[in-house]
Amino acid sequence: MQECRVLVVEDDPTQRELLVELLREEGFNVSSAPSAERALRLFQKERFDVVVTDVRLEGMSGLELLERLKELDSAVEVIVITAFSSVEDAIKAIKAGAFHYVTKPFEPEVLLNLVAKACQLASLRRPSKECCGIVYASKQMEEVVRQASLFAKSDAPVLITGESGTGKELLARFIHKESGRKGPFIAVNCAAIPKDLFEAELFGYERGAFTGATSSKAGLVEEAEGGTLFLDEVGELPLELQPKLLRFLQEGEFRRVGDTKLRRSNVRIVAATNRDLEGLVSEGLFREDLFYRLSVLNLRVPPLRERPEDVPVLIGHFLEKYSDKYKKEVKLSPEALSLLLSYPYPGNVRELENLIHRIVVLSQGEVTPQLVEALLGSKSSHSSFEVDFSRPLPEQVAQFEKRMIEEALKRTNYVQTKAAKLLGIDEKSLRYKRKKYGI
Ligand SMILES: Nc1ncnc2c1ncn2[C@@H]1O[C@H](COP(=O)(O)OP(=O)(O)OP(=O)(O)O)[C@@H](O)[C@H]1O
Ligand SMILES: [Mg+2]
Repeated sequence: MQECRVLVVEDDPTQRELLVELLREEGFNVSSAPSAERALRLFQKERFDVVVTDVRLEGMSGLELLERLKELDSAVEVIVITAFSSVEDAIKAIKAGAFHYVTKPFEPEVLLNLVAKACQLASLRRPSKECCGIVYASKQMEEVVRQASLFAKSDAPVLITGESGTGKELLARFIHKESGRKGPFIAVNCAAIPKDLFEAELFGYERGAFTGATSSKAGLVEEAEGGTLFLDEVGELPLELQPKLLRFLQEGEFRRVGDTKLRRSNVRIVAATNRDLEGLVSEGLFREDLFYRLSVLNLRVPPLRERPEDVPVLIGHFLEKYSDKYKKEVKLSPEALSLLLSYPYPGNVRELENLIHRIVVLSQGEVTPQLVEALLGSKSSHSSFEVDFSRPLPEQVAQFEKRMIEEALKRTNYVQTKAAKLLGIDEKSLRYKRKKYGI
């Protein structure tokens, strides 16, 4: 987690030093002030996430300090230290918006625990950057966005790589916006268009080009004229269609299906994939020349686990987004937040967004750790392996083997040597298995 800044306010020098030491040892970035007045001055100059203050101070009291701090920055979390006997002070502090109170004498662990939780809560509101909907706090994303705005000024193709849900499409739209191109942003999902229709979809067709082509139609390339054509999931593009795309990228020219006329087009290509394209190239599943054409400029969006600083700001961002949408006041309890911060998000930002969306829909008032646990738990059981004992093991293994071979053959265009390599078996076994399964 990003560094948490803590301000200790205590007039007794020995006590103050003890507190500062205790918190520093735990890794917090600590400053201190001997009075509320000095603390306020410091607070106006620097930003603090958490303030730990004694109630009884000479001059302005800790409670008054709490109120003034909240006026200056409603997001600051304040922990108040009260004397053993004064329950009223503690109640007043909580009413005035303190995060928590501790009564003297206290165990160091108790205070450390509270400060850690207050830091987590404060991290949700840490200033984040936002560029056309891309929210982040990490250096890595700052660099990605910086590069993307540089790339936007050029006309060269950009290849965006990154795991599922990391924000590749968001970034592609950002590049389009920053490019200042007047035409539209058109997205094509290469995995979703049936093979036989791909050429017609992309380049259009003339009347009578094939059965059902009752009138001529412009393709997506023409639709995107003057704008950006986003080739999503480009790694799924079947090998036999790749030369068609390559030719277009090389020449900037294309023909509608069934037409002899050569057309020129001015579109910017941005492609995205969650596959390892270079790996596919070396396996013979993706054309090397097409790969080089597409990846003149390269952007890698790191997965969330490589940029943990983005997790709290994204949680804060989506909480606000969905609270506004459903007109609900939703507050995370510190324990619920801890759970959300420690979850690894294998599905990246999309998973985080969906989770917060569901939390907002399902919660009333404060979000409990039980709700978060239930949502995370149900998710992991969904993704866990479903075992079916109704059919014998050999039968299910055979079925799986057949499916895997079929898929390998499809992906390698039925080139047996390549399929065998992909499956990690020799060609002889593959021949034998194909015969056995009648593939
Ligand atoms: N940094 C971010 N700030 C705000 N929202 C984000 C960010 N990154 C991703 N999102 C949101 O997360 C969701 C997934 O993002 P997007 O569709 O761009 O991911 P993707 O990388 O294209 O995923 P896939 O590979 O599954 O297609 C979208 O709703 C997007 O708005
Ligand atoms: Mg996508």
